[in-house]
Amino acid sequence: MTVETIFVLNGPNLNLLGTREPEIYGTETLADIEAATKIRAGEFGLAAECRQTNAEGTLVDWVQEAAASSAGLIINPGAYTHTSIALYDALKAAAIPKIELHLSNIHAREAFRRHSVTAAAADGVIMGFGAAGYRLAVEALKSLLERRVA
Ligand code: DQA
Repeated sequence: MTVETIFVLNGPNLNLLGTREPEIYGTETLADIEAATKIRAGEFGLAAECRQTNAEGTLVDWVQEAAASSAGLIINPGAYTHTSIALYDALKAAAIPKIELHLSNIHAREAFRRHSVTAAAADGVIMGFGAAGYRLAVEALKSLLERRVA
């Protein structure tokens, strides 16, 4: 079986998962989530390349890299979700399947979180399922990949 790579990108403050507002984001660390994501990806014959950065430009660079070298992308842009036209543009330019993901349901939170600048560039959005959302996103991406026209 050919193993395809998918990128799993996490933006600002997601390195703090586990201790960051656990009542909202849960108690699993980013390392826990990445380990579970890799296992789920492996079950689908995919290799997950997991990265986190607090820097907007680095996320843009990685989206471009994902477009050039991977089959698909899962991204939790953190707070850049609500502000980053640069990230939106990078995602629009990336001709691969893309899932935006949020641990929390951003529509049930503060007004400033209810709009995602970046979601319109994604094929779909998963939110509100906590850490389990990453595993669901891998399943969603796999289903998008299976729908590809050769
Ligand atoms: C988040 C939601 C964003 O509003 C917030 O800035 C984050 C995390 C989430 O996963 O629920 O950093 O993307």
